[in-house]
Amino acid sequence: MPSISVKEFLFWKKTQLSKGGDHQSLALLLDSAGGISNSDLNLSRIKSREHLYLRKNLDYLESIWEDHLLSSSPIQYLCGITFWRDLKLKVTDKVLIPRPESELIVDIVFKIFGKKPQKVFFAELGTGSGAISIALALKYPLWDGIATDIDQDALEIATKNYINSSKHSNLKFFCGHWWTPLESYKGKLDLAISNPPYIPQDTYEKLPKEVKNFEPKIALLGGEDGLKHIREIIQNAPLFLREKGWLILENHYDQGEKVKQLLIKNKFKAVEIVNDLSGVGRFTIGRYK
Ligand SMILES: C[S@@+](CC[C@H](N)C(=O)[O-])C[C@H]1O[C@@H](n2cnc3c(N)ncnc32)[C@H](O)[C@@H]1O
Repeated sequence: MPSISVKEFLFWKKTQLSKGGDHQSLALLLDSAGGISNSDLNLSRIKSREHLYLRKNLDYLESIWEDHLLSSSPIQYLCGITFWRDLKLKVTDKVLIPRPESELIVDIVFKIFGKKPQKVFFAELGTGSGAISIALALKYPLWDGIATDIDQDALEIATKNYINSSKHSNLKFFCGHWWTPLESYKGKLDLAISNPPYIPQDTYEKLPKEVKNFEPKIALLGGEDGLKHIREIIQNAPLFLREKGWLILENHYDQGEKVKQLLIKNKFKAVEIVNDLSGVGRFTIGRYK
């Protein structure tokens, strides 16, 4: 393991940041590839340690950092790792990098279902890296879940992430178009969740290059008005949800009211727009009849 003095390491860090990029991305690189987290660094200061032990040498870490700055490739893809809630997830360019705002979906579920030990059968449509479903399956080991995606490569990553995070077997992975893989579970779901592609065509064209050039288009683009997939998911949801089953959707910052109306039109009750931490109506939830 390469060893380095704390002083030298801090100087190296400052030099890298002076080339560009942000603190968070560098911290992710250092933690996932270098094996040094921010708390390791703080601890070494508190304990006046003089040396740090790195998993990879600084030249290697610097080459990834420069690749990130030059190509605009997200640091998560270059390191193959992202941190989301308390999970460490494998990511490749086959899956969307799960976003911090989507972490709140898990809190919405906690709020609805609380700590009740009741059995719940849930499905997540479009699981990507598996983040949301894995967080729920870990929190509720007695629940059973199905996570689906149209992309087999994404499902392979989600499956690996589940195996790496859990000792249980309460989550299954199926491939297919939205509700199609759930044909045999009609009327049986207590909860369905989706963070579908919802970016409108014209917004998609203007996305920053680190998103547009690297993250899967299939995970982002929601058709002309962004609502193509949300519409399809809502229209078919009544076939798959149990009576009083919940549907939780993530949507674009300005789609909340339209999604709310779609839910009401499809006989959902208790329809509510839920804000994210920046006060944006990011989620729309409802209960079927
Ligand atoms: C916005 S990403 C969300 C990924 C993950 N749930 C998250 O929150 O990070 C949307 C996901 O839906 C999947 N998807 C796109 N079209 C689909 C379809 N027709 N049927 C099922 N999944 C689809 C994509 O492959 C992608 O993984």
